[in-house]
Amino acid sequence: MRHIVIPDTGTAAAWREAARACLMQGLSPADIAWGSESSERGLFEDQPVSCAAPVRMTVPRSFVELAEAVCWHRDEDRFARLYAFLWRLKDAPQLMSDRGDRDLAHLRAMEKSVRRCQHKMKAFVRFREIGNRDDPRRSFAAWFEPTHHTLEPTADFFVRRFADMDWRIATPDLTAIFEQGALRLAPGHPKPALPDDSSEALWLTYFRSIFNPARLKVQAMTSEMPKKYWKNLPEAATIADLIATAPARARAMAEAAPTLPPMRAEKARLQLAAHESAWSGPTEALPSAIRACTRCPLHRTATQAVPGAGRLDADLMIVGEQPGDQEDLAGLPFVGPAGQLFDRIAQLAGLERSEAFVTNAVKHFKFTPRGKRRLHQRPNSGEIEHCRGWLDAERRLVQPKLTLALGATAAEALTGSGAGILARRGTVEQLADGTPVLVAVHPSYLLRLPDPVERERQTRLFEEDLRLAADMVRRLRAEAGAIRAAST
Ligand code: URA
Repeated sequence: MRHIVIPDTGTAAAWREAARACLMQGLSPADIAWGSESSERGLFEDQPVSCAAPVRMTVPRSFVELAEAVCWHRDEDRFARLYAFLWRLKDAPQLMSDRGDRDLAHLRAMEKSVRRCQHKMKAFVRFREIGNRDDPRRSFAAWFEPTHHTLEPTADFFVRRFADMDWRIATPDLTAIFEQGALRLAPGHPKPALPDDSSEALWLTYFRSIFNPARLKVQAMTSEMPKKYWKNLPEAATIADLIATAPARARAMAEAAPTLPPMRAEKARLQLAAHESAWSGPTEALPSAIRACTRCPLHRTATQAVPGAGRLDADLMIVGEQPGDQEDLAGLPFVGPAGQLFDRIAQLAGLERSEAFVTNAVKHFKFTPRGKRRLHQRPNSGEIEHCRGWLDAERRLVQPKLTLALGATAAEALTGSGAGILARRGTVEQLADGTPVLVAVHPSYLLRLPDPVERERQTRLFEEDLRLAADMVRRLRAEAGAIRAAST
């Protein structure tokens, strides 16, 4: 059995070296008892483990980073846990990405706890001035009680931030001392008596003023500023009072609020009302109303809005996502590459586009400029929602017997459901007005598929869907004809 004692400073590097040497000598986790200088002093003989010759061995970078953090954890088993995992990792490098591995999960949790502790240290260390204000380099000291041994790995942060002053941060285990631009580590000591900070009153006033009683969330606050740090934070003394008086202060704020809505709110209300109201007007005015639309910011960058086109007495309405680059310039739907592919497949499937009304869920082209190109961007739910009024108006006008939804955006705009399109394609759903909608993929999905075999398969499925749409239209037309005949 080898007893290896890892020092309290330079811990991560020392463990890394020792673990590497042990691994090279083929020492299994059961052959080693790991200890740390502070807790094991006197218990073990420190037996340095050395490699006979420098040996190269590689472990995943992600493990090195994990070990760098875990070494500063307070758990006495940390070195043994790391080595046991490293031992397994040498024969199974993919372990680092095995989310189900319990040892890895435990180490990840330790890493998280150490990083959180470092974060808290950066946020909650409070310096008091200990030197003479007139000295060329001012001098400060702070006392902090970290959960883990995080002073050493976090010291660099303070060096960078407070490079122009001398300071020391004392903790029960270790003290970091920065003097004349050089950092050194010294043993820890009990809490020192630090002088009052003359700027503390200012700091407390600031803390009180940023506290909003109307947005008090005690749980979120104590998770961000855990209670164990309060005793060393001057501002924490005010917290209990701020919480206790919050409800009364929030009520007072509400009572003192202006009773008339500010002008901006009124403007927003009017805009919202305009968007929510259904469009009503003469049939022939709908396309120009759509072209004049400013309901959402997409109108600012697009060339023009593209209203639907086709027969107003169509039995089939085809709904796409939004105009593409070419449609935006032409002012007509489905004239670019996706439209041309649709036309080719529709012809094979016996579906007559010229007999349909073709439109989009969103009427403006959404894109990001990339050099001279405009790259398509998928509209979000808000943009779909803003445009739904136009789609509804087109549907009221055309009153199709069947709607064909091409792609997820069209399906969401028509049915309100954003469920995955591949699971829905080829199925018929019912719209709020009782008419059927057949769901299919968008033709641009076929254009984007990189694998030729999958592209071929999806294209065949799309053709089947268009054939089904053509059959359904014929059937619905025949049924309507029969009903008309029966009623005359
Ligand atoms: N994609 C669409 O969804 N609609 C068009 O009009 C063009 C491309």
